[in-house]
Amino acid sequence: MTKRYAVILAAGKGTRMKSKLYKVLHPVMGRPMVQHVIKQLQQGPLNEIVTVVGFGAEKVAEVVGDDSQLVIQEEQLGTGHAVRQAEAMLKDEEGTTIVVCGDTPLISGETYKNLFEYHEAQGAKATVLTAEATNPTGYGRVIRNDAHEVTRIVEQKDASAEEQLVKEINTGTYCFDNKALFKALSEVSNDNAQGEYYLPDVIEILRREGEKVSAFLTPDFSETLGVNDRVALSEAETLMKRRINEYHMRNGVTIIDPEHTYIEPDVEIGQDAVIHPGSILTGQTKIGAEAIVGPHSEVHNCEIGSHSTVKQSVVEDSKIGKRVAIGPYAHIRPESAIADDIKIGNFVEIKKSAIGHGSKVSHLSYIGDTEMGTDVNVGCGTITVNYDGKHKFLTKIEDDVFIGCNSNLVAPVTVGEGAYVAAGSTITEDVPNEALSIARARQTNKDGYASRLKKD
Ligand code: UD1
Ligand code: CA
Repeated sequence: MTKRYAVILAAGKGTRMKSKLYKVLHPVMGRPMVQHVIKQLQQGPLNEIVTVVGFGAEKVAEVVGDDSQLVIQEEQLGTGHAVRQAEAMLKDEEGTTIVVCGDTPLISGETYKNLFEYHEAQGAKATVLTAEATNPTGYGRVIRNDAHEVTRIVEQKDASAEEQLVKEINTGTYCFDNKALFKALSEVSNDNAQGEYYLPDVIEILRREGEKVSAFLTPDFSETLGVNDRVALSEAETLMKRRINEYHMRNGVTIIDPEHTYIEPDVEIGQDAVIHPGSILTGQTKIGAEAIVGPHSEVHNCEIGSHSTVKQSVVEDSKIGKRVAIGPYAHIRPESAIADDIKIGNFVEIKKSAIGHGSKVSHLSYIGDTEMGTDVNVGCGTITVNYDGKHKFLTKIEDDVFIGCNSNLVAPVTVGEGAYVAAGSTITEDVPNEALSIARARQTNKDGYASRLKKD
């Protein structure tokens, strides 16, 4: 099989983004654009990926990791100049090189595959991926002759009024015969409106030399959207969001209002789960079958077991078991482990705590740095007092404990198995198994005192 290489152009400053952040690192559905490009390219066989980067290169290096080699383009003199930076690495290779822009995050692995196959079947020296745009403004236009062959690509700023009417655009993605590419690139000049070395000029150069050049028209323009400013960024976000949501819906997930449901690409969702409006599922999240999330819940890097519900709540970096009811208005903070058949109710905050099977923390509590056993009942307003201003301490609540309402458990402290804590207690010492602990002032009633005060 022909060897395949990829060059990703990612050195442009992205001036139109008006951002401190390097353009190709702007996330679309939580994933940097350049990473989308790499992931889609990796769906097919590739011998090597080379990414051309400019200033901010260290940050790109962090994102691409081992997936791609990096070459630096010191000065951004144009897309043709950018590809030349990969010359030392690639020029002697036999094979096909795909060139992709780092700012076209929506092109799918399927489209790349189709382009490679079309190019190789045509035996062309260059094949440009094109699309029909309703509004082609800003894109390079594909110019064809009377025989409908591609003769060249003209940039918006260099195009005549007539050329500007052309709707077929250059998507910025091409397949080249590797050696022909680098040979033609050495002939590209910067004699144009922007004073840049344009990669698309290679098409005209190859044609002039009598080489075969072709175009592959992809039916879906929306895939080829190039993100140059924040307006396009939000369009990309919308398109990617729809694509992900449709994938889940076809997979058996009910999404009540897909336009208002944000699911990042790595999220997995089980069959018959229902996602209500306003939900945001991010990072490495896994939602179990028949779970219900939302309305208005945020779940980040969590595993949520089957048949659990998360209503109007925020759940982060935690593991939630099966048949757990969370919310409304609960916050599960990182490193919490909630077992099965548990209720975490209204206005409850759980931090770095393990909650055992069958336990209930139903209302208005803070549980932090706590190890809680099974079938514990935590009364309304209970607080684990885990912080003395300098250090954090652990609270241990063993199996079958009943904590009365409005209690403080001042850590470090252990409430032994089966014990009761009376409502309103401030527990500062360990409570033995099966004991009843009352830690509050005894009530005194002064008969008739109120009437006397009123008379005075
Ligand atoms: C480019 C194409 C245009 C096409 C469009 C598709 C050129 C001259 N024009 O225009 O025909 O319709 O993409 O989206 O190629 N880059 C570098 N180094 C540079 C310049 C750019 O690495 O010196 C990178 C950018 O980071 C970006 C990509 O190349 O990822 C494209 O550059 P950009 O300036 O966005 O080109 P467009 O004007 O969109
Ligand atoms: Ca662009």
